[in-house]
Amino acid sequence: MRETAAAGQGVVDGRAPSGDHFIEADRITMRYTTRRSSTLALDNVTLSVAPKEFVALVGQSGCGKTTMLRILAGLIRPTEGTIRIGGQHLWHGSRRDEQTLRMLGLVFQDANLFPWYTVEDNIGLPLRLRGASKREWRTRAGELSELVQLAGFERSYPRELSGGMRQRVAIARAMSYNPEILLMDEPFGALDALTRDRMNLELQSITAATGATVAFVTHSITEAVFLADRVVLLTPRPGRIRSITPAKFERPRTLELQSDPAFQDTVRELRRQLYEDEGQDR
Ligand SMILES: Nc1ncnc2c1ncn2[C@@H]1O[C@H](COP(=O)(O)OP(=O)(O)OP(=O)(O)O)[C@@H](O)[C@H]1O
Ligand SMILES: [Mg+2]
Repeated sequence: MRETAAAGQGVVDGRAPSGDHFIEADRITMRYTTRRSSTLALDNVTLSVAPKEFVALVGQSGCGKTTMLRILAGLIRPTEGTIRIGGQHLWHGSRRDEQTLRMLGLVFQDANLFPWYTVEDNIGLPLRLRGASKREWRTRAGELSELVQLAGFERSYPRELSGGMRQRVAIARAMSYNPEILLMDEPFGALDALTRDRMNLELQSITAATGATVAFVTHSITEAVFLADRVVLLTPRPGRIRSITPAKFERPRTLELQSDPAFQDTVRELRRQLYEDEGQDR
């Protein structure tokens, strides 16, 4: 089953089909204004994510994916539109709702670990900042190291780890305080294909184990279809929702799914849409 809608047919509504909305981005428009220029990055994007849903955002470079994620994370305030998380507004005027921000865990392309901290210290940092006792945060860091398959590396420093391992530390750190929501911006973009496949499988087990709701940005359509419940394709800048594609494959998914004809059809159709938009960039 596929629901797609072509660009230019009006606003595609990215609301979760269940009607149960956990993250709600309503009519988001983002215009970056600097002294020299003004860029319309997102134009009227309405998107919601249901509890425990995994939504992947794809689209050409510069179409506003990172912008959208940063808006969901409360890192930037949209020019227009509202964000609600668990029914609560993320912004009250120019102030962010701290309670709501605590529900979010962020993972970016670069692991951004503190080089002078060990794996355990890096994972435990958000809990330390939240006032957890040493016993609490160390126990939790130990559990998470196991979850991301880093048991035995708790005392290692980031420089002693591979890129994939560092990325897993970043994921563990984002999950240390049990955020209900994970916002991930190309977390596996810098990894080789094999490590990326492994990380995809691990992310799937982690989210199944924790029940986190995920918004995930990627350049890879295959990765998006493999991981997500719905794939949101944005148009070239300014980003609008071009289509919403459900990826209703059974879970847990294995790498064999990628040879399944239905999977390949979904990937092909999304690629077709992406290439169709090429050349329409402004
Ligand atoms: N801080 C900023 N100030 C001004 N313009 C910005 C800023 N951040 C992003 N932009 C512009 O907004 C547009 C969208 O950028 P964004 O980083 O969201 O794209 P993206 O889809 O994440 O691209 P990529 O796939 O390359 O990461 C781009 O044209 C970019 O130049
Ligand atoms: Mg980006």
